[in-house]
Amino acid sequence: MIMDGLDALKKKYLDGIMAASEEGALETLRLAAIGKKGEVAMKMRELGKMTPKERKSAGPALNALKGEIISALAARKASLGDAALEARLWLDVTMAGRPSRQGSIHPVSQVTEEVAAIFADLGFSVAEGPQIESDWFNFDALNIPPEHPTRTEMDTFYMHRDADDTRVPNVLRTHTSPVQIRYMQEHGAPCRIIAPGRVYRADYDQTHTPMFHQIEGLALGRDISMANLKWVLEEFFSAFFEIDGIKTRFRASHFPFTEPSAEVDIQCSWSDGQLKIGEGDDWMEVLGSGMVHPKVLAAGGIDADKYQGFAFGMGIDRIAMLKYGIPDLRAFFDSDLRWLRHYGFRALDMPSLHAGLSG
Ligand code: DAH
Repeated sequence: MIMDGLDALKKKYLDGIMAASEEGALETLRLAAIGKKGEVAMKMRELGKMTPKERKSAGPALNALKGEIISALAARKASLGDAALEARLWLDVTMAGRPSRQGSIHPVSQVTEEVAAIFADLGFSVAEGPQIESDWFNFDALNIPPEHPTRTEMDTFYMHRDADDTRVPNVLRTHTSPVQIRYMQEHGAPCRIIAPGRVYRADYDQTHTPMFHQIEGLALGRDISMANLKWVLEEFFSAFFEIDGIKTRFRASHFPFTEPSAEVDIQCSWSDGQLKIGEGDDWMEVLGSGMVHPKVLAAGGIDADKYQGFAFGMGIDRIAMLKYGIPDLRAFFDSDLRWLRHYGFRALDMPSLHAGLSG
């Protein structure tokens, strides 16, 4: 009698297990079949009432059914797990990218490109030099004497030399000016170049970081003068800040590598704590410049009786802060993605004069 119902029971549970679509349903089936009060368990209890003969065939049959149900449950559980894993790993390579993962261009890179685009239009090409520089290129060739304060360890990062090595150590370049010398030595005059890049000084506060960026300019010819410098810089600042006719102010200054030397300010206004470039009666210092010193021309292998010209150096990070309203220089180099998303630029917007510099 027991045996009669077993086939139906087996079919019911094995079909149910195959159809189960989640682990909860499998557990319900397990309890209904082989749990303490499950159907198979109840039938096992009836074994005691059977004759020994009946028991001999019903016992193994019930045990076999129980075993089948247990292994069917385990198999189904495993295949549900595989399916869940597969669903998670499924990848559609034709799916569109996620915009939230997009990278962005750092303001320093963007501004460097903008500056290069403007100067390219004025006939300047881009030159480069090494960041680890000999002290001759970084100082001597630029007419900076050995006792000059910038050469002390306080400002300049000197590279390591072994104790028995008596050569003067190399330095991390403290400015982009040594590129002037390298370019003159290699290409001679006349020339018109800019040289953007990283420079290093031992300094750290809201407006100074130990690594920052400068852009150097150099123009040599037979009769290049300070007047040419003023025109070039006014053209540059008007294009860079996208404001026509920005005025500059030249203040007499001193740099060892230029004679005469000038610090250059651009016109601005401060009202209610708001800075506006290109209007008003205030001035903001933006760069150092001058006529290249004859000793510097000589170090570059240029005949100072034939050629003369101007040079300038300005901070890229600083003009980026002014143009894009970025308050703290240190944040430039913190690698904080939220800062980059806020101040960064879209990757495919290359600045050009005709398309608009800042995209
Ligand atoms: N090298 C100077 C600095 O780092 C900047 C500078 C001033 C560069 C005058 C020049 C120049 O080419 O003519 O502060």
